Amino acid sequence: MADRLTISPARRMRGRFTPPGDKSVSHRALILGALAEGRTLIRGFLRADDCLRTLSALRALGVDIEDRGEQVLVQGVGLHGLQAPAHLLDLGNSGTSIRLLAGVLASQPFRCTLSGDESLRRRPMGRIIEPLQLMGARICACGQRQTAPLTIQGKSGLRPIEYRLKQASAQVKSAILLAGLSCRGLTRIIEPGPSRDHTERMLAMMGADIEQQGLTVKLRGPGRLQGVEIEVVGDFSAAAFFIAAALLLPDAELLIERVGLNPRRSGFLDAVRRMGGRVQVMRRDSAGGEPVGDLLVKSSRLRGIEVGGDLVVRMIDEFPIFGVLAALAEGESVIRQAAELRVKESDRIATLSAELAKAGVEVEQFADGMRIRGSKELQPAVFDS
Ligand code: S3P
Repeated sequence: MADRLTISPARRMRGRFTPPGDKSVSHRALILGALAEGRTLIRGFLRADDCLRTLSALRALGVDIEDRGEQVLVQGVGLHGLQAPAHLLDLGNSGTSIRLLAGVLASQPFRCTLSGDESLRRRPMGRIIEPLQLMGARICACGQRQTAPLTIQGKSGLRPIEYRLKQASAQVKSAILLAGLSCRGLTRIIEPGPSRDHTERMLAMMGADIEQQGLTVKLRGPGRLQGVEIEVVGDFSAAAFFIAAALLLPDAELLIERVGLNPRRSGFLDAVRRMGGRVQVMRRDSAGGEPVGDLLVKSSRLRGIEVGGDLVVRMIDEFPIFGVLAALAEGESVIRQAAELRVKESDRIATLSAELAKAGVEVEQFADGMRIRGSKELQPAVFDS
């Protein structure tokens, strides 16, 4: 694949399309399908490297998965049917894979090692190690500063815990829930903010005894999951780039069909509406336990806004594209309380500031966010994606 693309400004954007399947939901469908009894048929699976890493790891753990492209058939092995892998599980760049699988493997009676690429080996794992160790798991972070590779000597008989998350994180919450599935008794998690709840929704759909009340989630174990058919909704994060393009181009009108509209995931819609963006939700429905709908997006005049608090959590993966909208809006935009952006696949505050600056945008970084001054036009430049 070419490592350079030359992009010329588009003149118009009109039409309709369906985004590819949701990444977070695709990971969970594979993992929960593997832990269920019976077959799980996944439709609209996202064939991205991250999800394929989860798929390969589960195969290495003895799960029979038939990969038919956008349809994937998982033969569930139940909560106790995974087998020791013959080699290290390489999860590439995928934080969701390593953190969720650590939660699963904590209760399996064998030893295995999870690792990934250079970026994944820099990301904080202490946030999952601490709660899993409180449950009785034996996990060792071999990297410096509690980073991967992670060696897990799994064991049955973990204890349920009540745990207050230090940061709103669906990956950490899901790791605890997946370990909690095999514990006898009540696992309770309290979050500081509304992180995405795809795991909770899918667990409920598969028959787990789980209850969500505001920012608290309770799971009673041991659980038994039943295989299901899952239609994966369109990925909101993928749709966000097209929403932004249609808002910014003159005379644009775009219909984006069957997009996942989980309110804990679609904060970017609230942000663009506050900026003056014209986005209408049509044909609301649900699929695979998730709300879904069509979005009609029209060119708009945007003004800068301030983003902080829960909205940061609900649009955590959309800040790079939000930065582009802010750069072309009237006035300035300020992002605060978003320090989590620094520990993603890259430091999203530093990289976004650097790339916007190349386009001539005035930006200022803070430890937990940034200020972006809107301008009329961006300068062409060589960007590093
Ligand atoms: C994800 C959760 C989020 C998000 C990531 C996917 C998930 O990470 O940024 O892209 O699938 O659970 P955190 O849980 O670290 O906030």
